Amino acid sequence: MDGYSQKSDSNQPDLNDICDSLIELAFEAGKIIMGALPDTDSTGSKKNSADLVTEYDRAVEEMISRSLKEKYPGFHFHGEETYDPACPLTDAPTFIVDPIDGTVNFVHAFPYACVSLGFAIDRRPCVGVVFNPFSNILYSAIRGKGAFLNREIPLPIKKSKIEPLNGLQDSLIGVEWGSERTGKNWETKVRTFEKLAQNKEDGGAMVRSMRSMGSAALNLCAVAAGTLDLYWEGGCWAWDVCAGWVILEEAGGIIVGGNPGEWEAQVDGRKYLAVRAGSQVSQRSLVEEFWSVMQGQLEY
Ligand code: IPD
Ligand code: CA
Repeated sequence: MDGYSQKSDSNQPDLNDICDSLIELAFEAGKIIMGALPDTDSTGSKKNSADLVTEYDRAVEEMISRSLKEKYPGFHFHGEETYDPACPLTDAPTFIVDPIDGTVNFVHAFPYACVSLGFAIDRRPCVGVVFNPFSNILYSAIRGKGAFLNREIPLPIKKSKIEPLNGLQDSLIGVEWGSERTGKNWETKVRTFEKLAQNKEDGGAMVRSMRSMGSAALNLCAVAAGTLDLYWEGGCWAWDVCAGWVILEEAGGIIVGGNPGEWEAQVDGRKYLAVRAGSQVSQRSLVEEFWSVMQGQLEY
């Protein structure tokens, strides 16, 4: 078993088998995460005090990469904790892994963190598995085969009960502060947040509200489920979005770039705008409305 389909002569990676393996690993990772007690000895910071890493992030990634390398020796591995800037993502079939997405939440025991396991070919996300062990919720998708909650419930959930996409003023939006708290990107984010929330009479878009929950992967899954209408992100990485990307697209959502005019988003592009399922016209018009409210451009 090398991860390639035995059934066809096209020699394509067997996405069903890969998805099953990733789900198994997600549950294993969940056990480590739930058995962990992050404390000051096991927690350190990366670039600043808001950018955390724990020994559990490393332990989970080690377990996942060991298992994937053993089972699929021909595929590449791209994980947050072992990322080397000298080895960027390539077009090769690659596992793209965040062992704990939402590390700040994990450290604070705020129950919104997950393991995010993606697989991409030609940098196109093809399989996604996101598991939040605090709530025992699993999201998974294979390109062309739909997206599911806990392997059974098709996404988006409660489709008939969700309002049509109606523009920013009727939207609940996911945003993130990120760990960079100064400079141009910071200004762009904060000014845009203000414009999104502000009263129409004062020139704002007056969105219903904004949520900043601390996990890019779970935010994408919330858009896939239809419980968030939109999610705007700047500064995160391929491992934060790869798995959620397939789940979102298979649930009828779209993902574009985080700056005006970027209709083609790249998985390692570091700025994204995700919109939930709806008519193509309403999705595109919501994207354009969001871009028009932005106060500056994200530069990553
Ligand atoms: C972070 C989360 C957060 C996003 C940051 C990421 P981490 O990932 O996904 O929502 O805004 O950009 O770095 O550090 O918890 O794996
Ligand atoms: Ca992480």
